[in-house]
Amino acid sequence: MMGLRVAGTGSFLPERVITNDDLSRTLDTSDEWIRSRTGIAARHLLEPDTPPASMGIAAARAALRRAGLGPSDVDLLIVATNVPEEIIPGSAPFIAEGLGLHHEPPFFDIKAGCAGFVFGLAVAGAMMDSGLVRTVLLVGIEALSRFVDWEDRKTCVLFGDGAGAVVLVGTEGDRGILGAALHGDATKLGLLRIPAGGVRLPASPETVAAGKHFLRMKGRGVYQSAVTMMERATLEATERAGISLADIDWLLPHQANLRIIEALVKRLGFPRDRVLVNIDRVANTSTASIPILLDEAVRAGRIGDGDILALTAFGAGACYGTVILRW
Ligand code: UT7
Repeated sequence: MMGLRVAGTGSFLPERVITNDDLSRTLDTSDEWIRSRTGIAARHLLEPDTPPASMGIAAARAALRRAGLGPSDVDLLIVATNVPEEIIPGSAPFIAEGLGLHHEPPFFDIKAGCAGFVFGLAVAGAMMDSGLVRTVLLVGIEALSRFVDWEDRKTCVLFGDGAGAVVLVGTEGDRGILGAALHGDATKLGLLRIPAGGVRLPASPETVAAGKHFLRMKGRGVYQSAVTMMERATLEATERAGISLADIDWLLPHQANLRIIEALVKRLGFPRDRVLVNIDRVANTSTASIPILLDEAVRAGRIGDGDILALTAFGAGACYGTVILRW
């Protein structure tokens, strides 16, 4: 594939922080249970009256600023999200409007569960490789706090809100996507769903009364599939990249559950100190999880020129995949 460089990264987390102790005041749960089962200590939640797109706009502006580029340089905007700003027209137009993309570049949403950002990266790379576009703004954004049932302790404690963004530019040399493996296992589509509010079951007073517009998750089933999915995708992507696991400098796994990450690392035999983790502070931000993690690592100066990164994720669908990127 053509060379590709991440010219800038950005992220945004809402100011409001909710700790496990805060949750345990209104919910039958405890800091001890949440920490020991998930590794989560706190999450950022968007204020109810704030439009979620504002998080994506802030993350994208930061990424463009660090890339030394402006809105007029964007050839394509891809927004990865599970729950769009509006069912029609999605999230991308709202972010394009907020950024002032007045030169009318194409934009679209991508929905691939929590793997949306990884899928988006592969799509962006392929479109750049084909010569269709040169500069891509890829945003991962999620405000699942609006769709979790705050009375369901099995799901609501897991999620946080946030957004992350990268600016991708073409480059000479050997930087870019070295290999990728993307998969979908539709036999597992029942593991994570919001049953109502789509065309199959449009929102009605009955669906709202039955709470069918809330995220429903079979946590155990997701847990059991997640590790093997990310393991398979990472091994395949590594092979396609023509490298070995030992060549990977940093593993950036989707931040869903610390125990899932640790089981993955153990199965791969990957060094724990080369795995980036921030789930304790941000919880599971779904499609925003990997770009937030990446931005924090870049700003902390952890990622060096030429480093090889493996970005791996799984989520609703069930979609899963890994992209190997040379920085
Ligand atoms: O991006 C993908 C999104 N989803 C995920 O990644 C989720 C993956 N799954 C998981 O992370 C884990 O399955 C959970 C953290 C969701 C749950 O952990 P678990 O070890 O699989 O627990 P469990 O569902 O088997 O529940 C064990 C017990 C149950 O009590 P009983 O029935 O044994 O009395 C639950 O009711 O833990 C109870 N429980 C809780 N207790 C206190 C479930 N949630 C909570 C809670 N606080 N928040």
